[in-house]
Amino acid sequence: MTITTSLAGSKKAFALSVLEGLQRTPKQISSKYFYDENGDRLFQQIMRMPSYYLTDSEYEIFDLQKEAILRQLGDRPFDLIELGAGDGLKTKVLLRHLSQKGVSFKYRPVDISSSVLDTLQTSLREELPNLEVAPLHGEYFQVLEELQQLGDHQKKVIFFLGANIGNLTREESQSFLSRLNDLLSPGDMLLLGVDLKKDPAIILEAYNDAEGITAAFNLNLLHRINRELDGNFEVEHFKHWETYNPLSGETKSYIISKVQQEVEIGAISSIIHFDAWEAIEVELSQKYSVEEVESLAKKSGFRLVKNFFDSSRYFIDSLWIKQ
Ligand code: AVI
Repeated sequence: MTITTSLAGSKKAFALSVLEGLQRTPKQISSKYFYDENGDRLFQQIMRMPSYYLTDSEYEIFDLQKEAILRQLGDRPFDLIELGAGDGLKTKVLLRHLSQKGVSFKYRPVDISSSVLDTLQTSLREELPNLEVAPLHGEYFQVLEELQQLGDHQKKVIFFLGANIGNLTREESQSFLSRLNDLLSPGDMLLLGVDLKKDPAIILEAYNDAEGITAAFNLNLLHRINRELDGNFEVEHFKHWETYNPLSGETKSYIISKVQQEVEIGAISSIIHFDAWEAIEVELSQKYSVEEVESLAKKSGFRLVKNFFDSSRYFIDSLWIKQ
């Protein structure tokens, strides 16, 4: 099997990852490929669904506890660096509050997409004209390494919200947070948004909504392979399936082949065989207990400062400091 040599950089990485993932047993494709234009739109819809409680829970924390969060950030001026800022909906609540209170800080959203950063900057200019905004375009660690190499000594407060950490395995999270810790200086802080273990029915409803929006979000991956990698998936021959393991906290999404079939993917010159009811593992959304969050902090070189919960205790924004 060969990868079409003419493929451009990011498409080539996608093709390689699809090839590698579909050769595995069990088959696996990373959820990071959910987010093309259509995937972004579907994710926006998910975040507006009442059953996807994560967004409302974290918004409530910011809305009701912004003053308590501010009080923990200390007196030194700082850069508020948000990893994967998106539309900044929750962060804006805090940014507005910090600005009104005359806190000395600069907002530095980090994103791989320059169009996301442009849109965010435009909306911030309108809504918070006095806020100092200095976007950082690139991958999270690339950007933080560049700041370190530039000898940037400004205190950093990193925001990694929205339960994005849940899309990594426990081991990957541990190494992500340790690597982040290595790039910070003593006194720098991290506010980490984590979805907590709770009634399994509530979790399953969030990832398996009756309207089928999450199903469409997951199955969009197959449409994306068809569009970008010259695939011929017949998407109606696949279904979305969701599981939650209350012991491990793993919420997993699968795409399951309803029939035995062969699928051709031109860009990787491959024909992929699916048995009837064979699954592709596509997403992990890890849920944690409060103790597990605290142990994650310790193991990655941080000290827990304070946990902020929503009123249902569905979600936690955990504030850590580098020792
Ligand atoms: C982006 N990420 C935190 C979401 C989650 O909850 O794992 C992605 C998502 N998948 C299905 N619904 C939302």
